[in-house]
Amino acid sequence: MDLHDYADVAENYDLYLDVMYKNEDNHAGFREFYLDFAREYGGNGVIDIACGTGAVLLYLAEHGIMADGTDLSEAMCRVADEKARRKGFHLNIFPANMTEFKSDRKYSCAIIARSGFMHLTTPELQKAALINIRENLTDGGMLTFNTFDPHPFFQAQQMKTKDTDYSLRLEYTNQKGQRERIYNAISYDPYTQIMSGNWKFETLDDNGDVVEERVRPLKMRHTYRQEMKYLLELTDYEIVDVYGGYHKESGEASAKNVIWCVRKAAS
Ligand SMILES: C[S@@+](CC[C@H](N)C(=O)[O-])C[C@H]1O[C@@H](n2cnc3c(N)ncnc32)[C@H](O)[C@@H]1O
Repeated sequence: MDLHDYADVAENYDLYLDVMYKNEDNHAGFREFYLDFAREYGGNGVIDIACGTGAVLLYLAEHGIMADGTDLSEAMCRVADEKARRKGFHLNIFPANMTEFKSDRKYSCAIIARSGFMHLTTPELQKAALINIRENLTDGGMLTFNTFDPHPFFQAQQMKTKDTDYSLRLEYTNQKGQRERIYNAISYDPYTQIMSGNWKFETLDDNGDVVEERVRPLKMRHTYRQEMKYLLELTDYEIVDVYGGYHKESGEASAKNVIWCVRKAAS
């Protein structure tokens, strides 16, 4: 079980992410980026893989692009589906692992938004996902996803901490109207390139006393861009664009967030 598999996380996800991105927005402009991508390449269908609660999926629908959505977490799919219905959209949203989902149609455009690909914690899983997504794309179909390059300074810091060394991340009001504080603790293993951590949610009463505590684990893998280039070659994708940010900044070596736009090579 990972963070996103828990119903309490799925139900509160949009609420706490709103606060998180007000304080530290390293994803500014992500929705517009994916909308442009879907408009450019999605003429024969779009799928939002690891769609979460539908941040991108519903933004696309609001702009006239009716994409399918899939996510490993049933809880996230349920929240995305409820949100879609409330907005009057009837979308095909199904729970599945990106390493093995199979749709009854092929898509000209696949999106893995906001670090969904980084939840694949081994090169084998990454390879399996790329091969499977390829199977679900039309010839010449496009995929975008992002990875984080290991960053020597931050990774060195995280090598000194344990996954119980919590620091306060934010405070927000949960779905039930209760105040909650979120702490996280992250440690980095340079051999596997996995960032493992725990997110701790503390629910407070009106006096500010903690009445409940929930700890939810999370693992994400950093990937050197050299690895990714080989993996893409191995799985028959051509690299079309590499950006260093959602405003299509240059993807030169110092960019931390690497956004890959790749094409299924003709077989
Ligand atoms: C950081 S969230 C991003 C969600 C959404 N794309 C967004 O922008 O809000 C990552 C999502 O990846 C999903 N996920 C993790 N591993 C997955 C897998 N193997 N296959 C499909 N989805 C996965 C999680 O359940 C979670 O909803």
